[in-house]
Order: sequence, then C-alpha cells, then structure tokens
Amino acid sequence: MTVLVTGGTGYIGSHTCVLLLEAGHDVVVIDNLSNSSEKSLERVEEITGKKATFYKCDILDTEGMRKVFSAHKIDAVIHFAGLKAVGESVAIPLKYYDNNITGTLRLLEVMGEFGVKKMVFSSSATVYGVTDKMPLTEDLPTSANSPYGQTKLMIEQILTDLCVSDDSWKITLLRYFNPVGAHESGKIGENPRGIPNNLMPYITQVASGKLAQLSIFGDDYPTKDGTGVRDYIHVVDLADGHLKALDKLDAQKGVEIYNLGTGVGYSVLDLVHAFEEANDLKINYKIAPRRPGDVTVCYADATKAARELGWSAKKNVVDMCRDSWRWQKNNPNGYEA
Ligand code: NAD
Ligand code: WQD
Repeated sequence: MTVLVTGGTGYIGSHTCVLLLEAGHDVVVIDNLSNSSEKSLERVEEITGKKATFYKCDILDTEGMRKVFSAHKIDAVIHFAGLKAVGESVAIPLKYYDNNITGTLRLLEVMGEFGVKKMVFSSSATVYGVTDKMPLTEDLPTSANSPYGQTKLMIEQILTDLCVSDDSWKITLLRYFNPVGAHESGKIGENPRGIPNNLMPYITQVASGKLAQLSIFGDDYPTKDGTGVRDYIHVVDLADGHLKALDKLDAQKGVEIYNLGTGVGYSVLDLVHAFEEANDLKINYKIAPRRPGDVTVCYADATKAARELGWSAKKNVVDMCRDSWRWQKNNPNGYEA
C-alpha cells in the first residue's frame, strides 16, 4: 500500500520508513524539518535500496497537504509529526497546542477530503500521568502533567470522537514507552538539537566526549537503587509495531489503543551500567537533584499488543546500548558532516 508518513524524517519516522520500504510499501513523507534533516531519508535509501518520496510540508499547511494527497493515492497515514520536548512545552505551550493539535486537525481535514480514513498515531506513555499502578494497562485513567502530554491526550480524544462520529474511520493509538537505540547499520538514529533532554542520547554524548558528565536526576526514589525506572524500547521494535498496527487496520472497528513497551523496567543506573558493559566504556556521572515532573517508575503491560497485533519487542538492552553507541560513534554530529 501507499503510506503517508508525517514526521518521517525524524527519529522514529525514519526507522519506520526503513521497515515500510523493506516490506514493499510505497512511502510518501511529509515533514517541515523543524527537528530533523532530509539526509535521514538518503540514509534510509542507502539501507533499503529504495526511495521514499519526500515533501517539505508543514501539517499546518492545508493547501500543501492537498497537493501531496492529490499527487499520490494514499491508503493510510502514520502520523509522527509533532513537537515532543516536555520542558519546552511548558515554556511555549501555545506553539505546542498549535503545532500538535491544530496540525492534526488540518491533517484529518485533508484526509477526510480525500477519503483516506486509516491512521496510526504516535501517542505516549506520558498520558498515564502519575500512578502507582504498574505495569500500565491501556484501560487505566489518563492525565497529563505538561502541555506536551495534554496535546497527546487531546489528540487521542479527537481521534476517538472522530471514529465515534463516523465508523468508516479506523485509527490506532500507539502509546510508546521510552524509545532508544538506532538501526543496526549505524546510518540512522536519534539526532537531538542542542543538549539532549533524554537519558540515552545524553549517555552517548558523554561516551563520545561531547558532554563532560551525566547528571543522574535523583537517587532517593523508592526503587531498588534510588534512581527512576523506565521501560526502554528499541526504536526498530517500535517501528515494527507500526507495521503490525497497519496490517490490522482493515479488520479493525473504530479506535484501538496499544502500549508499545517491553514490559521490563530498568533504572537509570541499570542503563548506565548496561551501556558501559555493552560497549566496554566508562560513563562519567554524578548524582544530581530530581528533575521536576519526573515519575518514579513507568513500564508497560504490553500483552494487548502481543495478543491482538502479534507484536512484541525482540531486542534487549544490550542491543539498545550497542546500537545507540554505533550511531553516535559513526555520526558524532548527527546528519551534519
Ligand atoms: P522527532 O522530533 O525526531 O520527529 C518528529 C518529526 O516531526 C520531526 O522530523 C519534525 O521535523 C516533524 N514535525 C514537527 N512538527 C511538524 C509540522 N508542523 N509539520 C511537519 N512536520 C513536523 O521525534 P520522534 O522521537 O521521532 O517522535 C515522533 C512522534 O512520536 C512524536 O509525535 C512524538 O511526540 C512521539 N513520541 C516520541 C517519544 C520519544 O521519546 N521519542 C515518546 C513518545 C511519543
Ligand atoms: C529517563 C530517566 C530521568 C536525563 C520522556 C518524556 C516522555 C516520552 C519519553 C515523549 C528518568 C533520567 C534523564 C538525564 C537522568 N516522550 N535522566 N539524566 O522523562 O521518562 O520520558 O521521553 O512522549 O513523554 O517525558 O525520559 O530519557 O528524559 O528520562 O537521570 O540527563 O532518566 O530522570 O528517570 P522520560 P528521559
């Protein structure tokens, strides 16, 4: 089928493009390049020997999207495009609401006009808010503690309401846990602008000498070693979840929600030590105060995705650490020469 991938030059999008092309799909990407480089798609072509068609296009640009939908007979959309930095969303909430929510509304409007009514949407474990109920199941109540989280919650609601209003829409909400790792070729990976917010890119930049020291945000949480626990998932496994969701869309009624995680929690110190062992390196770190807004523990119950999509994570923490480091080592400045 022909799949439109919004945000397809980004971290998760580019890995998903690889799997889509390898599975024989035609891939059309739209991205405004606000947080990515078009070069990622050249690398996707190097990996797969196949080309995705790229349009530099904003999801706020209704006319621009109409041109893309006119030029291709799109069967389904995987919707990654969005701003994702939690801290930044607190500082500039209107930009996040406009970009993520208005952008999604415009995309849906154009999809409706062209009769394209199948979508897989990037949601996030952040919609579970603060809860002690672990592992997290899809039926738990949701809440948000940042404007970014609000955008994911609101978009989930919008997509649900749309499916209720018109049963010809079929939409899958995928709630990602903590994506890390990179394609094993070392050609594509996460390419944060400026100082990374997230743990794994911070670790890899300390390993490469680009950053001097990792600050571990808190060692007084009620966990086995006092540091926060997360469900890290390899980005290639995550990308595969999108293909599985796409395969099931035809048979689906309305909205479905799936957690994409491994179901296993690792502490910050676990991940640092796993990285050191997997790559035979030492990570310089210190203990720093807790980061405001962080939850203590967060990991998935991913059995619904296993049962209904036939999906489960295959890669382990060693793969995550080796692949993250290979990408960073081979591309110290990301996609820039
Ligand atoms: P990313 O920033 O690498 O990719 C997002 C892409 O969307 C970027 O290429 C960016 O340029 C593009 N984009 C942003 N606004 C746009 C707009 N208005 N029009 C067109 N393109 C636009 O991020 P990612 O990690 O690949 O995340 C992809 C999606 O998954 C996002 O929606 C994010 O919120 C969600 N998600 C990410 C994580 C994570 O930790 N990486 C976790 C949960 C959910
Ligand atoms: C992981 C752990 C930190 C950096 C975020 C978003 C979430 C989702 C995934 C989009 C925590 C600790 C981190 C550092 C550290 N994104 N840490 N030092 O916060 O679980 O999730 O990304 O939807 O919405 O909130 O991920 O990688 O930032 O942190 O000690 O320099 O690492 O405190 O325990 P998080 P993270």
